[in-house]
Amino acid sequence: MNDFSGKNILVLGGSRGIGAAIVRRFASEGANLAFTFAGSRESAGALATETGAEAIQADSADRDALTATVAARGKLDILVINAGTLVLGDPLTLDPDQVDRMIDVNVRAPYHAAVEAARQMNDNGRIIVIGSVNADRMPFAGGAAYALTKAAMQGMVRGLARDFGDRGITVNSIQPGPTDSDMNPAEGPMAATMHSFMAIKRHARAEEIAEYAAYIAGPHAGMITGSMQTIDGGFGA
Ligand SMILES: NC(=O)c1ccc[n+]([C@@H]2O[C@H](COP(=O)([O-])OP(=O)(O)OC[C@H]3O[C@@H](n4cnc5c(N)ncnc54)[C@H](OP(=O)(O)O)[C@@H]3O)[C@@H](O)[C@H]2O)c1
Repeated sequence: MNDFSGKNILVLGGSRGIGAAIVRRFASEGANLAFTFAGSRESAGALATETGAEAIQADSADRDALTATVAARGKLDILVINAGTLVLGDPLTLDPDQVDRMIDVNVRAPYHAAVEAARQMNDNGRIIVIGSVNADRMPFAGGAAYALTKAAMQGMVRGLARDFGDRGITVNSIQPGPTDSDMNPAEGPMAATMHSFMAIKRHARAEEIAEYAAYIAGPHAGMITGSMQTIDGGFGA
């Protein structure tokens, strides 16, 4: 246990999948918790009722809405930037608007949210982005734009770690491999192909990613910063 009781925590993109598991993990220790969602009002409402966390509708692609939401939380202890989208396909035929929206949500939003959070963040705070092992390894066709977004996070993490390090604030990326969620179902059409790249041939459970996030957010991880923490069953090995 890390004792998150009373810690002011915001999870961006917490209504489903990995983000919801992270919300549940922090809620289990009595955090002062809020999470955002884009469209899933029903899932967000159910999770808020279950955990006591506040659900806030804020599209990460809308910079003003995003930064206003972050600023309104005041002095954060922990910011988890999980909201992300996945657009896969032949780059010659992919809808460029969809690609640009993915870049907005996966790249622009994490940068602006992290910077806004740091304005007021308490010393020894934690900024965690959910990247992807695809930043390091993209072993199938059709993933160039997604890999681009997750690789961009790596540069941001390294740079912001140096910008905020004198306040004890750590900035890290957790890079999951295939993880069971709506985005990437364990029984989905690409599952067998993904498992063929892995040493441990199964999807992770969202709870396994959340447990790692809790460690990085906790008091024992104060010297981990500017790093990519990969949890992928050997996908990138
Ligand atoms: N699943 C995997 O295999 C895997 C592997 C590596 C990395 N990741 C990364 O892990 C993160 C979570 O993925 P997941 O698998 O849990 O995905 P998911 O099941 O599709 O859930 C995505 C979550 O992000 C929120 N979200 C999406 N776009 C948003 C926006 N514009 N504004 C605010 N919230 C937004 C969604 O809210 P709504 O419910 O309102 O849509 C939802 O809560 C992503 O960054 C993803 O790239 C996933």
